[in-house]
Amino acid sequence: MIASHHNRVVIVGTGSVGSAVAGAIVEQGLCNELVLINHNPNKAKGLAMDLADGSEFLGRFITIRSGDWDDCASADVVVITAGPKPKPGETRMQELDAAIDIVDPILKHIKDSGFDGILIMVSNPVDVLSWFAWRRTGLPRAQVFGSGAALDTSRMKAIIGATTHLDPRLVSGYVIGEHGDSQFVPWSTVSFIGKSFAQYLEDNRDRYPGVTLAGIEEQTRRRGLDIKGLRGGTSYGIAATVAGLIRTILWNERSVVSVSTLISGEYEYEERDVFLSLPVALDGSGVGDFVDLHLSDEELAKFRASAAVVREHCVLIGGRLEA
Ligand SMILES: NC(=O)c1ccc[n+]([C@@H]2O[C@H](COP(=O)([O-])OP(=O)(O)OC[C@H]3O[C@@H](n4cnc5c(N)ncnc54)[C@H](O)[C@@H]3O)[C@@H](O)[C@H]2O)c1
Repeated sequence: MIASHHNRVVIVGTGSVGSAVAGAIVEQGLCNELVLINHNPNKAKGLAMDLADGSEFLGRFITIRSGDWDDCASADVVVITAGPKPKPGETRMQELDAAIDIVDPILKHIKDSGFDGILIMVSNPVDVLSWFAWRRTGLPRAQVFGSGAALDTSRMKAIIGATTHLDPRLVSGYVIGEHGDSQFVPWSTVSFIGKSFAQYLEDNRDRYPGVTLAGIEEQTRRRGLDIKGLRGGTSYGIAATVAGLIRTILWNERSVVSVSTLISGEYEYEERDVFLSLPVALDGSGVGDFVDLHLSDEELAKFRASAAVVREHCVLIGGRLEA
């Protein structure tokens, strides 16, 4: 008998984001078993049936079914996408009160199931909720993180790709800080085809008139709001991102991604007890070592400002941990 590891991914919340994440997982054949949980069980059951109906034409067979909290007990990865429907014009932080009412009971169920895998928070505001999830579940740092600026990093690369008409994957670099208004690009650390992206832009001024680092950064920051304004919400970009994070974990790829993780005074970051995105190694054990980016003083000031915003909102919901 061949010894094989059967892996299971659970998605909590089957709205626009949860459905798109499930679709990406199934299309890419990332796990053996995909379990969907929704507070309206019919929605989860219907989505499982719909996804399973493509089985003949998929590259790999996956068991897809709706489930319950008991299924979290032996899950390798649980992804939380439940939350209030984001309203056009509302910031992610403005969703906090409604989001915590939905996410806290979910976290209690997951904890009570005995779950000991890797928890990925996607619901917004993702940095605050990731911190809360870490505190609520008591899981080690490595096992709780938020998708954070992984999506923003991919957005920045997509924008640079569209601007230069070159493959976005040629960009090496990260968006860091809050997944929100205070996020930023530490340009001193972003490279493109063998040189810094700032130098690339400088060397090709006449080819890209009017293109600036600040402009690309602002487009990246606004991208979610712009998409919400155009089609009511985002789903496919975050789905590809979360599927990529799950692949890195289940296939033990040890990729380096900018995800929202606990900062405990590492390197120059100094901040403690707050979740923010920084490049970290990700593999089958979860979040590993940080990359020391050697931020400039100006970039460090932006990082601290991001930490202040997130911490301020953690304080608002911290009292719930007593309940
Ligand atoms: N981190 C990111 O980059 C990113 C990107 C896009 C969306 N989001 C977030 O994902 C979340 C979901 O967005 P969406 O567009 O899928 O919204 P949606 O309204 O389409 O789906 C929300 C899901 O939450 C579930 N839900 C609602 N109330 C619940 C409750 N009381 N208990 C349990 N489940 C409940 C719904 O049944 C639904 O399945 C939001 O928090 C949104 O801000 C995050």
